[in-house]
Amino acid sequence: MSEESPELEARLAEQDELEPAESFAEQANVSDPEIYDEFENEWPDCWRQAADLLDWETDYEQVLDDSNPPFYEWFTGGSLNASANCLDRHLSARGDEAAIEWIGEPVDEDNRTYSYEELHREVNEFAAGLREMGVEEDDVVTMYMPMVPELPIAMLACARIGAPHSVVFAGFSADALATRMNAADSEYLVVADGYYRRGEPLDHLGKANEGLSGVNHEVAATVVVDRLGPNNDDFGHGLTDNQYDYDAVVAGHSGAVVEPVDRDAEDMLFLMYTSGTTGQPKGVKHTTGGYLSWTAWTSQSVLDIKPDDTYFCSADIGWITGHSYIVYGPLALGTTSIMYEGTPDHPERDRLWEIVEDYGANQLYTAPTAIRAFMKWGTEYPDDHDLSSLRLLGTVGEPINPRAWQWYHQHIGDEECPIVDTWWQTETGGMMVTTLPGTKNMKPGSAGPSLPGVDAMVVDESGEPVGAGEAGYLTVEKPWPGMLRTLYRNDERFIEEYWEEYSDTDSDDPDDWVYFPEDGAKVDEDGYITVLGRVDDVINVSGHRLGTMEIESAIVDVEGVAESAVVGGNHEIKGEAVYAYAITEDGQEPSDSLRSQIESSVQDAIGPIARPERIVFSPDLPKTRSGKIMRRLLENIADGDKLGDTSTLRNPDIVQEIQQEATGDWSAERVSPPRQPHRYCDNLFCPPAVSII
Ligand code: WTA
Repeated sequence: MSEESPELEARLAEQDELEPAESFAEQANVSDPEIYDEFENEWPDCWRQAADLLDWETDYEQVLDDSNPPFYEWFTGGSLNASANCLDRHLSARGDEAAIEWIGEPVDEDNRTYSYEELHREVNEFAAGLREMGVEEDDVVTMYMPMVPELPIAMLACARIGAPHSVVFAGFSADALATRMNAADSEYLVVADGYYRRGEPLDHLGKANEGLSGVNHEVAATVVVDRLGPNNDDFGHGLTDNQYDYDAVVAGHSGAVVEPVDRDAEDMLFLMYTSGTTGQPKGVKHTTGGYLSWTAWTSQSVLDIKPDDTYFCSADIGWITGHSYIVYGPLALGTTSIMYEGTPDHPERDRLWEIVEDYGANQLYTAPTAIRAFMKWGTEYPDDHDLSSLRLLGTVGEPINPRAWQWYHQHIGDEECPIVDTWWQTETGGMMVTTLPGTKNMKPGSAGPSLPGVDAMVVDESGEPVGAGEAGYLTVEKPWPGMLRTLYRNDERFIEEYWEEYSDTDSDDPDDWVYFPEDGAKVDEDGYITVLGRVDDVINVSGHRLGTMEIESAIVDVEGVAESAVVGGNHEIKGEAVYAYAITEDGQEPSDSLRSQIESSVQDAIGPIARPERIVFSPDLPKTRSGKIMRRLLENIADGDKLGDTSTLRNPDIVQEIQQEATGDWSAERVSPPRQPHRYCDNLFCPPAVSII
């Protein structure tokens, strides 16, 4: 982070609030701040505005049925089809406009543009193919696919025939695929033979086949997309008996027209498995009417998407961000959505900027982890490109530290683009806490207030609101249309995981039910919420609760530090102490001066209590293949314990290096017996919002 100007340094010291540029506010989809009061006064009827963005086959009778909390129903009595809303209704006005701009990772191959007309055609053909294979309404179809256009096509084809999809991130293991197919009793699979990562073709079908061998019921059909062409030959997989070539399926139904199935608003649109604190992943169930309204409304009001825009979200569709904000939200609005197969550093570290320039992207939605990588690489990469088409920037997935925020604002947004820092989860379906960019000032490092009509609060252990600046727990006090309806086939776990903590579970009164997202947060006097991270990542130092992410943010705010991870380690006196691992930027040597800068940065940001007990400089952090830091291993190292499983790491060798760096006086402070380990969110089920693997 040695690249910034002295002005940025000065601004970081001074500025904690920024007004969006007038030029943005003037053209914004939502520019009247009255919307907050209006939605509060008219709740829940305010959500008609979201439903109005869709075409309904049958009008709904009731906006919200809250007679059986927490099993809320939205837009009851209404019916619609998600594929018809994302495709058919745009054909007359926008049939020739691009729906998806697909960019493959290899630079020397042809990228593909799908107009709404073309996308509609292929979705129909594939829907007909799925039907012929036996897929019926309500059958769960699993997709284990990289970022190829056939993934959104398959999703929309399923939506068309009323078959819920369950997309499994391509970076997950064969076991993870089997677990998810078993959990959903899914008898159909759509895969790709492979994809490209940093120039190399990867064998994906081999992994899928391995996964299929772990499925404990009969799999009726697997459709294989030929992504690699002749590059697949080396892997030597033929198609087995019930495996079909995607192109042949589509060609076999050339010109087919499949009437969109009329789905009840509350019918399941898709399942998405996400991490749980215990073993089995949770099958988050989203519905057709509520989810689609939510993603359409937030795409319009937060991302400011207009039909003529070209919009770029760099997430992977294998995660919820890609579902909501590459596929459903943008296509429901009839815009052009960019889909990029590869990593941001291939073939060069300017790949995303090249895409923004070449396609004239108007919005960029990415993750803080990516922004920190861009900072590390330096400003010469964005500086080489014309990024003036950008009108708005967004981030999602983790807290963004003010320094990274300012870098994004200055070097990517040219200080003109508002930044929306959007807090939400797989379970919420779409954005919940963020500024409406045309109406609210931005505060770097804070996501913002709840969206209008969303009632997020920060409370203490007994559920009482905390004072401004105090840390507490994030809750959502009212239902919202995009909310998960349950965990698939496990209503009990749904209640346990999200509601029990702050609700009176014996009550029928919806006011007694509070949703708990398991995040820590604080709120300022203007109602701006800063999310501190998962509460299962909280460290308790001498009785003070500290968010690891908050400390990490302060550490990476130090010039010369690229990345950091903080864990709680045993401490004789304090119970737990902060143990910090820091990666320096290229060309920056670890030093005592850097160490003391880190200490003061943490002290300044949070207080002396959060000052790290130990700081270990290391060349990298142990990361899973999905890019999450394996904090549990770092905790093992801090405690001088035997290391846990390292087999899921993409860089297992680093652990020993860190251990060597850290050994010695660390173990001196050990207490015995060791306390319970943290339930760190570091397993393969825990998704980053953006794929930079
Ligand atoms: C975290 C991703 C701070 C949070 C859309 C949440 C964030 C978890 C933010 C959900 C943000 C997401 N600021 N933290 N803007 N956005 N998170 O299900 O801890 O992959 O609970 O959904 O990411 O992750 P998930």
